[in-house]
Order: sequence, then C-alpha cells, then structure tokens
Amino acid sequence: MKISKFFKKVFSINKFAKYKKSKIFIHPDSKVGKFTTVGFGTRITGPAFIDSKKESPVSIGKYCAIAHNLRIRTRNHYTGYINMQHRFQRRYNFPELVRTKGAINIGNGVWIGDNVTILPGVEIANGAVIGAGSIVTKSIPPYSIAVGNPAKVIKKRFSDQIIEQLQEINWWDWSEEKIKNNRRFFETDFSQIKKDEMFMINKVIVD
Ligand SMILES: CC(C)(COP(=O)(O)OP(=O)(O)OC[C@H]1O[C@@H](n2cnc3c(N)ncnc32)[C@H](O)[C@@H]1OP(=O)(O)O)[C@@H](O)C(=O)NCCC(=O)NCCS
Repeated sequence: MKISKFFKKVFSINKFAKYKKSKIFIHPDSKVGKFTTVGFGTRITGPAFIDSKKESPVSIGKYCAIAHNLRIRTRNHYTGYINMQHRFQRRYNFPELVRTKGAINIGNGVWIGDNVTILPGVEIANGAVIGAGSIVTKSIPPYSIAVGNPAKVIKKRFSDQIIEQLQEINWWDWSEEKIKNNRRFFETDFSQIKKDEMFMINKVIVD
C-alpha cells in the first residue's frame, strides 16, 4: 500500500483520455515520470518504467514501437562517498548523491525490443532498432540496428545513400492524408536497394 502511494506521488500515472486523442498507447502498468514527452502515434505495448526528472527529461518521438519492459534511467548515484543510498545522505544532511547526464532523447520511428534498459544521457536517433535485452549506454545513430550489453551497432537498416535521404524526409510529420496518399513510399523495401544503386526517394513520394 505504502509503495503504491509513493509511486503515485512521484510519477504521473498515464492519463489515457489525453493520450487516446493523440493515438498514443502507453501500457497501463507503466510508471512514467512527469518530465516525459511521447510523440503522436507511439505505442508502448508492455509495462515501461521511465524515470524522468526536470533536469533529466525524456522525450520519445512519433510512431515508435516499444515492446515490453523498457526501463529508462536518467540518473546515477555518485559512487565517491562511502554511502550510496540517497535516504541515508539526506537523513544526516550529507552531500547529495544524484548525478545526471541530462536528457534522454529517443527519435521518431524507433523500434525497441523487449527488456531494454536505456542509461543516462543517451540519444537514440530516428529509425534506429534496439534489439531485445539490450542495455544502451551510448548514443545510437539513425537507422542502425544495435544489440547487446553494452548495445553496439551490428548493421544499418539501409545504405548510407538511402539513410542520408531519409534524414531529409520527416514522414512522421505527414498528415493522415499524406500518409494515405503515399502507399508507394511505405511499400518500398529500402533494404533491397544496393549500396551503389542511385535511388531518389523523392520519386516515390507525392505531396
Ligand atoms: C535486433 C533484431 C531485430 C535483429 O534481427 P536480425 O536483423 O534478424 O538479426 P540476426 O538474427 O541476423 O542477428 C545478427 C547478429 O546479432 C545477434 N543478435 C541479434 N539480436 C540480438 C540481441 N537482441 N541481443 C544480442 N545479440 C543479438 C545475433 O546473434 C547475430 O550474431 P552473429 O552475427 O554473431 O551470428 C532482433 O534480433 C531482435 O532483438 N528483435 C527484437 C524482438 C522483440 O523484442 N520483439 C518484441 C515484440 S515487438
């Protein structure tokens, strides 16, 4: 009982009415810190724990696919003093232990597999994939696939030439109508376009 009261005080539990309108789904058993923003169309399909704070906010972009048991930690305990428990330090007015590396940003169109932990200060760029069970300790570049502990890039989803062009096309900002009109863009398998093949993405996009 006491524990759930504590969490209610510390975390703002999801406000589903608000999220429904913006087509965001956050699993109801999630604990999401107040200083978290989640973009339009993103789905967190299993319980997540996102420990955002004013000095270390978390932003998650649009149309991300996030599986079960994501944990985002924005702060470390300082390890230089003999005690590493916050409550003990505060009880005796000893120095503060909280250390943050600032914001955690997750881009748009990111896919995060099951049981992923994201550690302080990390950025996961647009279109990246984080494999199941990964611990992300460093920033992950756009449209890459990273796995393991610590998460390392094992491959890119597309050729550099395609990624460069995708960096200019923020499809996640398109209107519903534009998305519907761009069936060709969403049905193109960009992974099949070879490194040396000249492919102009704009040719499969209509305005
Ligand atoms: C990351 C992922 C998408 C890669 O899939 P893939 O492109 O088919 O990659 P492969 O299976 O060919 O694996 C490539 C290499 O990475 C390793 N690997 C793949 N996923 C890994 C993971 N999550 N952790 C550690 N290593 C992993 C493979 O063992 C393989 O290593 P090798 O080259 O030494 O043999 C996939 O493995 C994964 O983790 N999917 C998440 C599934 C999930 O959580 N779904 C939740 C519902 S949405």
